[in-house]
Amino acid sequence: MNKDFLTYQAQTTPHPLGLEVSSAKGSYIYTTDGKAHLDFVAGVSACSLGHSHPKIVKAIKEQSEKYLHVMVYGEYAQSPAVNYTKLLSEKVDIPNAKTYLVNSGTEAIEGALKLARRYTGRQEIIAAHRAYHGNTMGSLSLMDFEERKKPFEPLLPEISFLNFNDETSLDTITKKTAAVILETIQGGAGFIQPKDDFLKKVKQRCEEVGALLILDEIQPGFGRTGKLFAYEHFGIIPDILVIGKGMAGGLPVGAFVASEKLMDSLSDNPKMGHITTFGGNPLIAASALATLEEITSTSLIEETLEKEKLFKTLLVHPLIEEVRGKGLMLAAIVSSEEIANQVILEAKDNELILFWLLFEKRAVRITPPLTISKEEIEKGCKIILAILDKIYKN
Ligand SMILES: Cc1ncc(COP(=O)(O)O)c(C=O)c1O
Repeated sequence: MNKDFLTYQAQTTPHPLGLEVSSAKGSYIYTTDGKAHLDFVAGVSACSLGHSHPKIVKAIKEQSEKYLHVMVYGEYAQSPAVNYTKLLSEKVDIPNAKTYLVNSGTEAIEGALKLARRYTGRQEIIAAHRAYHGNTMGSLSLMDFEERKKPFEPLLPEISFLNFNDETSLDTITKKTAAVILETIQGGAGFIQPKDDFLKKVKQRCEEVGALLILDEIQPGFGRTGKLFAYEHFGIIPDILVIGKGMAGGLPVGAFVASEKLMDSLSDNPKMGHITTFGGNPLIAASALATLEEITSTSLIEETLEKEKLFKTLLVHPLIEEVRGKGLMLAAIVSSEEIANQVILEAKDNELILFWLLFEKRAVRITPPLTISKEEIEKGCKIILAILDKIYKN
């Protein structure tokens, strides 16, 4: 299968990991050679309830027997999307929240940017250095990474950058600013948490100048950090919340959420300010509803914090400088980029799935399903420590 994968499927890198997948269940991915790989990555934080969670599979099956796609987003009332957005509006802190459902995280970012420009009538967007918001032209414009951006320019104009956690850069937010967009916890940068009320200060500055605060919770959202949404840790509420990844238990999805007053500006003057064919697709919405119900009706979110403690207790080694992050959004920061590469690749040979972060090259990504058991955590950490021991002794 790998030969055909390389021949016919467009590639993102010249050296894909290339596991040949046959099935996946719970915390394991099974490959065609019969091996069971313990998954510490969860489809890069997307499979929050593990692989093929029975409640998700049931919701998809039941919906598939009723109807699939029937109309473009926003024209017909379809119970999966209606029930989902209703439940979500009870769970987010944004007053009178309305949710616009789309197909991916990056598309949700595009929608949020359009909403901010449309609502404020301003153009400038401020993002953070070392942020990642996706790969379409608008989202890519928010990434301060010349090497990745340059070949695709010109991108969006009127984008500037501030330093995450640096209060002195708040002056860049002015009356010209439509929105500041931040990841609540910076992912690609190395799972960096906001310090010293930084987010509160950004929000305050935005309010002073009439700019909106967009928080990208595509990765930390849906329980991964020990709260349903990570902004709850930091005492603020965004004007626009962007979500995706773990939202639909492993199906492609994204959404942006804002108050009715803001959101309604996207459907008028011009009408159809944002449109999509498949946004709110009934299968995906049914899966998102099952995911949200499961996450909010069990103790999974609180358990995330206990599992964080377990990881931090177990992953102690002279080659690990720190285990950074919150809940199950963790990264082991090892002594060098080479060691991180070695750990990730050797873990693969030992049937443990780990991955990289975009900007922090010394990071070993640990973002397992929220449903991972303590025994599975112990088993995976043992593999990591054994690899590190081998490297340390050489
Ligand atoms: C914080 C953040 N924003 C946006 C995105 C883009 O989401 P998607 O890949 O679904 O377009 C990602 C994906 O990794 C992300 O982690």
